[in-house]
Amino acid sequence: MRVFPASLLVLALGRAAVGADPATAVYNHACAWCHGKDGRGDGPAAFSINKYLSPRPRDFTRGLFKLRSTPSGQVPTDDDLLRTLERGIPGYMPSFRGLTAGERRLAVTAVKGFFPGFATAHATPIAVPPPPPADAAAVARGREAYAAAGCAACHGERGRGDGPSAPALRDSDGLPTGPLQGRCGAGRPLPDPHERARRHTHAVLRLGVR
Ligand code: HEC
Ligand code: HEC
Repeated sequence: MRVFPASLLVLALGRAAVGADPATAVYNHACAWCHGKDGRGDGPAAFSINKYLSPRPRDFTRGLFKLRSTPSGQVPTDDDLLRTLERGIPGYMPSFRGLTAGERRLAVTAVKGFFPGFATAHATPIAVPPPPPADAAAVARGREAYAAAGCAACHGERGRGDGPSAPALRDSDGLPTGPLQGRCGAGRPLPDPHERARRHTHAVLRLGVR
């Protein structure tokens, strides 16, 4: 009987899945398709997601995260990671609101397990002061800050993503970042409780360049 060995294999795989710890089990069901069983961003679905364009599904073993309330170079807080899962990353990753809160926490545990730096890190959110009033003076200061920091080199004089450096931009793996136009605040999950302040800062910057 030819199907017999195949059914044995299925049984064996089933046992292995049951044997996995709860965090790994949730991760394998919900995340491994894109992020890979070992967290290296090389799951079966990752092959067809943006294969030649940034961003690819994140390789968690590098400990590099964008959506953080923490300073540059630090790992995100658990709340940052939970927020990323709840909101998803529009255009790149689905929201996992459909999982229970407990399952989302287990997924966060699994993500942190791929990078040893999480065990020793003391992730501390940046204190964002309350936003200034969005008056003409603030807009003028925003315009100055935008010019002084050289944002226009990539984002363009008017924030349209058409600065001279934009076409050649590549990520740390050498993949092109694609058009910047419309990327500014395009529904990315901004961390609470600073979200309002940050959105406001962006609005002022945007107003300042239009
Ligand atoms: C359909 C594919 C897909 C699935 C499924 C998926 N992700 Fe992602 N994920 C991505 C992509 C693509 C990125 C990179 C997006 C970017 O850099 O803007 C990403 C980025 C991330 C990041 C990095 C955010 C940051 O701060 O830089 C985390 C954390 C993450 N995913 C967690 C998860 C977890 C946990 C699961 C399972 C519950 C999951 N993802 C399932 C595609 C996926
Ligand atoms: C070297 C090129 C470069 C410079 C200079 C630059 N940016 Fe960006 N910026 C990018 C790229 C690339 C992205 C998209 C990153 C991504 O999608 O992961 C981006 C994204 C953003 C976003 C959207 C973030 C999000 O989560 O959606 C904002 C807002 C932004 N930049 C503001 C600024 C400001 C303000 C300055 C100046 C202080 C600046 N940038 C300077 C390349 C640049």
